[in-house]
Amino acid sequence: MEFFLDTADIEQIERGLEWGRVHGATTNPTLIARQGKAYLPTVQEIARLVPGPVSGEVLATDYEGILEQGRRLAGLADNVVVKVPLGPPGLRAVRQFAEEGIRTNVTLCFSAAQALLAAKAGASYISPFVGRLDDLGEEGMALIEAIVEIYGNYGFSTGVLVASVRNPQHVVIAARLGADVATIPFKTLEQLYQHPLTDRGLEQFLEDWRKTGKGFDDP
Ligand code: E4P
Repeated sequence: MEFFLDTADIEQIERGLEWGRVHGATTNPTLIARQGKAYLPTVQEIARLVPGPVSGEVLATDYEGILEQGRRLAGLADNVVVKVPLGPPGLRAVRQFAEEGIRTNVTLCFSAAQALLAAKAGASYISPFVGRLDDLGEEGMALIEAIVEIYGNYGFSTGVLVASVRNPQHVVIAARLGADVATIPFKTLEQLYQHPLTDRGLEQFLEDWRKTGKGFDDP
């Protein structure tokens, strides 16, 4: 399973890349707005830094507008994937983008039926939002299980990109279910590395060695 960073924060992306576990990135209008920067240049800057796919979302909601903005986003860099909202105009545009060789990420997916439609339209990725379903008292990861099963049944090539990730458990369950990608907020990426027993164990190792009074190279 690939790790993408779910952020438009350049510093976070640089740190994630430095740690070596991040392959791609996803953005959305909210994440870019938080940075207080211009829209297209931000997507372009991220695409320059990140080696793998970078999702940049269209702001238009009508078919022609989605096509126009999607083509401009795709023209920013070879690794830009056009993020398109679910609905008839979006999925119609996804079909057209597929014919033009433009990769797409269908966003705001909250049901298996929506994911099936996106795959049939030829989406490169589907983004089911697990955290937002959990917030409503539903089981976000059950949606991932259903989509992985359906895509497997028919051999769809659409990648399952687990979005709205809120904690390490989401990432672990996504991997157990065979999802293709988890897009992870920076805070959750940090949490993936952490365990209290790791910290306590390291402290103990170093303390025990300190007690010997010897250095690393001492005989
Ligand atoms: C990613 O593609 C989504 O835009 C993002 O994961 C949404 O996450 P949120 O529900 O935490 O806003």
